[in-house]
Amino acid sequence: MAIRFDEKRKIFFLNTKNTEYQIKINDIGMVLHTYYGASVDQADMSYMIKEIDRGFSGNPYECKNQRGISADTLPQEYSSDGAGDYRVSALSAVMANGSRTTDLRYKAHNIISGRENPTGLPYVRQENDKVDTLKLVMEDAISGLLVTLHYQVFADKDIISRYTEIKNASDAEIIINKAASMSMDFCGRNMDLIHFHGRHAMERIPERETVGHNIHRIASKRGTSSHQNNPFVILCDKNTDEWHGDSYGFMLMYSGEHAEEIEKDQAGSIRVVSGISDDHFSWKLSPGDVFETPEVILAYTNKGLSELSYLYHRIIRENVCPKEFRDIKRPVLINNWEGTYFDFDDKKIMEIAKSAADAGCEMFVLDDGWFGERNHDHAGLGDWVVNEKKLEGGMSKIADYVNSLGMKFGLWFEPEMVNEDSDLYRAHPDWALTDPDRKPVMGRDQLVLDMSRKDVVDYLYDSISTVLRSANISYVKWDFNRSCANVFSHDLPSDKQGEVLHRFMLGTYDLMQRLRDSFPHIMIEGCSGGGGRFDAGIMFYSPQIWCSDNTEAINRLIIQKGTSYGYPVSTMGSHVSASPNHQSGREVPFMTRALVAMSGTFGYELDPRKLSDADRSMIRKQIDTFNKYYELIQKGRYYRLSDEATESYFTSWGFVSEDKSEALVTLVVTDVRANPEIIYVKMRGLDESATYELDGILSSIETSPDDAFFESSNKIGNKYGGAALVNGGFAFDPMFGVYPAIQLHFKRV
Ligand code: GLA
Repeated sequence: MAIRFDEKRKIFFLNTKNTEYQIKINDIGMVLHTYYGASVDQADMSYMIKEIDRGFSGNPYECKNQRGISADTLPQEYSSDGAGDYRVSALSAVMANGSRTTDLRYKAHNIISGRENPTGLPYVRQENDKVDTLKLVMEDAISGLLVTLHYQVFADKDIISRYTEIKNASDAEIIINKAASMSMDFCGRNMDLIHFHGRHAMERIPERETVGHNIHRIASKRGTSSHQNNPFVILCDKNTDEWHGDSYGFMLMYSGEHAEEIEKDQAGSIRVVSGISDDHFSWKLSPGDVFETPEVILAYTNKGLSELSYLYHRIIRENVCPKEFRDIKRPVLINNWEGTYFDFDDKKIMEIAKSAADAGCEMFVLDDGWFGERNHDHAGLGDWVVNEKKLEGGMSKIADYVNSLGMKFGLWFEPEMVNEDSDLYRAHPDWALTDPDRKPVMGRDQLVLDMSRKDVVDYLYDSISTVLRSANISYVKWDFNRSCANVFSHDLPSDKQGEVLHRFMLGTYDLMQRLRDSFPHIMIEGCSGGGGRFDAGIMFYSPQIWCSDNTEAINRLIIQKGTSYGYPVSTMGSHVSASPNHQSGREVPFMTRALVAMSGTFGYELDPRKLSDADRSMIRKQIDTFNKYYELIQKGRYYRLSDEATESYFTSWGFVSEDKSEALVTLVVTDVRANPEIIYVKMRGLDESATYELDGILSSIETSPDDAFFESSNKIGNKYGGAALVNGGFAFDPMFGVYPAIQLHFKRV
C-alpha cells in the first residue's frame, strides 16, 4: 500500500516512488497538511509547524487558552470558512438558519485499493497502474455537512490526484457557495507562481511571478476553462529552473469556470486552492444530497520544470486520454478551414481532397459550413443536417470519395451552440442560455445552448449520431466558439440558477461520453476557437485539441512551448497553413512551418491546389519525416532547450526516446543576424556513455547558407559523444534568410 495511517501519531503517509505527502490529525481533530515534497522516509514532519500565538488569529473554543492553536495559522488540508481561518477558503456554505460557519474536523477514514470516480466528471484512469486511495472524512458536527477528501495515489507515476465529495447529512437544506477540489498549505516558503495566460489566437503564454503577500487568482468566468487563464499552475522555489529545483503542479481536470487561488499569508505560508470558480456558482444540497468536485492532478519533483512537465505528459498520455487512440498512429490530416472558409461545394472539396491525397495526407477534415444554412457565421448552428445544396449527394458521397483516395474522413461540429437564425432556435428559443427580458450578449452572432437540460443533450446526441451514422466518419472536430454570458436556464427554478454552469459541464461531458460509447472508433479533436478549452477535462474524451487558431509558425513557438509545461505534444493540434499567414500576415518558409507543426499532431490547414509546385512537393517529404519519427515525437521525452529570456533570437526543443536510442532536435532562428554568433544548444536526456550519429537533417535551407565562405560541418554521418552533446552542446551552422529552421535526428550507434 502506498498509503499508511500511523494510528498512534495520527499521521497519514501517502508515498509515491519519489514523493511523500503527509496529513496529521491534531488533538482537536483539525486535519493539518504537514508535508508534500521529496520522500522523507515517513519522518514525522509535523515538527515544521510552530504553534505560535499570533494576534487576531483566534482559537477554537476548546483551545481558548492554547493560543497557538488557530485555524488561521495552522496548515489546513481543506480550508473552511467562518471558523477563524481568514485565508482563502476551499468551502463556503450557508446553513438553513443562515449561518455561514463550517468548522471541519476529522471523522473517519478509509484506505482502499483502486479508486472511485467522481460521477459524470473526467478523472485520472487507473489503467494498468496500481492505485491506492485515501478517503478522509471531515465533519461539521453542528450543520451535519460531511466532506470526504479523496486522494488517489499513482505511486509509480509520482502523481496524486484529489477530489472532494460534499454531503448534506442533516435534515435541512444547505447551500454551497464554493466547493474547491483541493486546498493545500506550504509552511513558510518563498515561491514563484507560473501560470499560463493568453487570449484568442495567443494562448498559454507562461508568466512567472513572485508569490507576494496577497492573493493571486488565476481564473475564468467565461463558462469555459478559457484562452485567458489555463486551469494549470506551477509553484516552484525561486531558484527552480528547467533542470533543478522544487516544483509543484496543480492541474484541474475541468473545462468550465475555474479558479486557482494562491495566497501568501501573514506568516509567510502559502496556500493553494483549486477548483470550480465561485464567481457564478452555488449548489443547493437537500438532505442526503452529495456534490462531487472535479479532480486535480498534483505532481511534485525536485528536478525542475522539465521533469514536472514529463510527469504530466506521461499521466495525460497514459491515464487521461482515451486509450483507443493512445498507441495507434494518428493520421496526418488536412483541414479545409483556412483553405476555403465557408466558400465551398462538393466539387471544390473533392478537388482539395484529391490534391491532398496526392501530396500524401492521410485524413481529410471538412470544417464549418456543411450543414443547415451555414454559408457564413450568422446562421445554421444547431441544425446538424447536411446542406445538400452545397454538398450534392450528401455526406456519404464526400466520405466515400475521400475514402476512395485512401484517406480517412472527419467532420466539424459545434454542438453546444445555436444561431438565432436556425430552425433549432426558431423551434426552441428556450433551449439557449438567455436571461429573460434581456437582450443577450452575442458572440460570433451565436448563443450557447443550455447543456444543463437533458432534452438539449438528447437532441444533440440524436442529431449528431444521425450524421455520424450516415457516412464513414473517423474523426470529429468539436468546437466551442464563444464565451458564455447571460447564464440562465429556462428549465431551472430561481434558487438553482447558480448550478447552471456546472450542470452545463456535466451535460457536455455526458454528451461526449455518450458519443464516445456509441462511436468508440471516432476520434474527437477538442477545439474552442483554437485553445479556449485546452484542459485535462476535455482530454479525457479527446486525445488531441486544436492548440490555437493562430497557425503562424513563429507565434506558435511560444504557444506550443507554453502549452508544453503541462500538456504533451500528442495533445497539441498543430498544422501548416498558407503564407502570408491569415492571423499575423507574416511570411514563414514552408519547411519552417512544417518543422514547428511537426511537434504536435501534424496536419495541414490550407488549399493544396494553391501551393507552388515546389511547396506541394515538399508535403510528402514532411509527412514521411513526421511518420518516421512519430513514436519519438508522440511518446518520447520532450525537452525545452532554449530560454528566450536570455537567447531572444532562437527557439529550440527536442525529443528523446524513453530508451535513449534516438533524439530529435529542432532549432528555429527567429531573429537572423549578420555575422551571427554560433548557436550552441545543450541537449538533454541522452545516454551520456553512448555515441550518437547524426542521421537525419531536414532544413528550411536547401543549401549551405553561404557556400562561398562557409562549409557546413553539420553533416550526416557525424558522430558525437552523448556526454559531449549534453555538456558541451550541439554547435549549429549559422543559418541565414527568413526564419530558417532545422531538424536533426540522432541515433545511438
Ligand atoms: C473555430 C476553430 C477553427 C474553425 C472555425 C470554424 O474558430 O478554431 O479552426 O473550425 O471555428 O468556424
